[in-house]
Amino acid sequence: MTTILDASHHNDLELFAARTLPGPRSARLLADQERQESNARTYPRRLPFGIASARGSIITDVDGNHYVDLLSGAGVLALGHSHPELVTIAQRQLELFVHGLDMPTPVKAEFTGKLLARIPGYDAGTGNWKVHFCGPTGANAVDAAIKLARIATGRHGVISFQGGFHGTTHLTMGLTGLLAQRAGIAGIGDGVHFLPYSDSRNHPDQRPGDHRYHTTLIESLLTDPNGGIPAPAAVILEIVQGEGGVVLGDPVFLATVANLAHRLGALLIVDEIQTGCGRTGTFFAYERHGIRPDVVCLSKALSGIGTPISVLLYRSEHDVWGPGTHTGTFRGNQLAFATGSAFLDILDRDDVLGHVAAIERTVRDTLGPLPERSPHVYDVRGIGAMWGIEFVADSGRRDTGGALARAVQELCVRRGIVTEVGGRNDSVLRLLPPLNIDLDLFAEACAVIAAAVDDVMTAGAVR
Ligand SMILES: Cc1ncc(COP(=O)(O)O)c(C=O)c1O
Repeated sequence: MTTILDASHHNDLELFAARTLPGPRSARLLADQERQESNARTYPRRLPFGIASARGSIITDVDGNHYVDLLSGAGVLALGHSHPELVTIAQRQLELFVHGLDMPTPVKAEFTGKLLARIPGYDAGTGNWKVHFCGPTGANAVDAAIKLARIATGRHGVISFQGGFHGTTHLTMGLTGLLAQRAGIAGIGDGVHFLPYSDSRNHPDQRPGDHRYHTTLIESLLTDPNGGIPAPAAVILEIVQGEGGVVLGDPVFLATVANLAHRLGALLIVDEIQTGCGRTGTFFAYERHGIRPDVVCLSKALSGIGTPISVLLYRSEHDVWGPGTHTGTFRGNQLAFATGSAFLDILDRDDVLGHVAAIERTVRDTLGPLPERSPHVYDVRGIGAMWGIEFVADSGRRDTGGALARAVQELCVRRGIVTEVGGRNDSVLRLLPPLNIDLDLFAEACAVIAAAVDDVMTAGAVR
């Protein structure tokens, strides 16, 4: 396992020393940014520093402060920042050539073969799955997936789920549940129906883990000839909702939805943009559930180092596109193919998925007990290297813990840990560490998070 800074080095960095943020240089950069950039910027509002450099799991800001990065570029940096082997490979490719349109190249062919081989049931002889290289964002792959499903089925409707997140282009925002971000956008979500996801929130008694209410409701809504929802072109599904607040799909719920999609003749699109590439402990999160997707969207971590790439994987019988039906100037990024190919090798060579299982154990040991310690911690949930701590304010009502989650995030960043908030009203503190993070460092960071939770629960801890 190549971890770039080991635990002994971390001790030299005064990682968890309290600091005042933003530091003077960061403050200047943030002020310039506010003047020059769009108001739609997000992360620097809650992580108030400018980045000078980053290696492995450590970010260094322009004022010399170090942070443990438990966000990993929103799940992009599977092997942390600038993994040395991937840097060398990218540099070599940079010298050779970078942009290849959608022409075949040796480096692309190698990557394609390795990627297809990861698909459960892939048969290279019959070529039963195909890959399409999209424009370089996750949203572009989701957009392409819906386009493919609409053409393949000749239908228009799409089923998406409450709490789902699929991107912020016009089409993908229409598949995303977050109403605040959709506000004021006319015509958004044409043909999209939202159904309840596998969370107990919609159950009359809010009984954790009880999926029966949802599966019965969904079955009724989609099969009722008087139900008002025409047979859809596609059902788009996350196996674990990330931005929605780390909500794990119940196995029975997922299987029911998958079977319904097949029965209705809709394409089952599994959005693995955040959950894929080992994040949940298997290469694809859907592998654990024995479901049979028609289309899989993959992006974020796929190049291993953050060189942008986004793909659709789909069963060959759905290859209904004509030449040019989905193009994109940047779909021939050779740097991403070269580093992605090496990333797939490193996953196996370094048993990164085994390490992800150890990350999961560390979270369960260090953060798992939090709900017993405070009535304001509703839940610590997740899988592999994808975790959320949901907070609730008075009386344990869901979706009320935004101020608490943000306060913990603020305290964490001032103590040298980068996290994210998400879910309803930002009530969930989210962790997406690099898949190869040093385990001692990670355990230390989790202890700092647990202490921050305790401190926030004590009045006056957050200024
Ligand atoms: C599940 C899921 N789908 C799609 C996207 C959109 O990806 P991008 O921001 O690269 O467009 C994201 C981004 O967070 C995501 O988590």
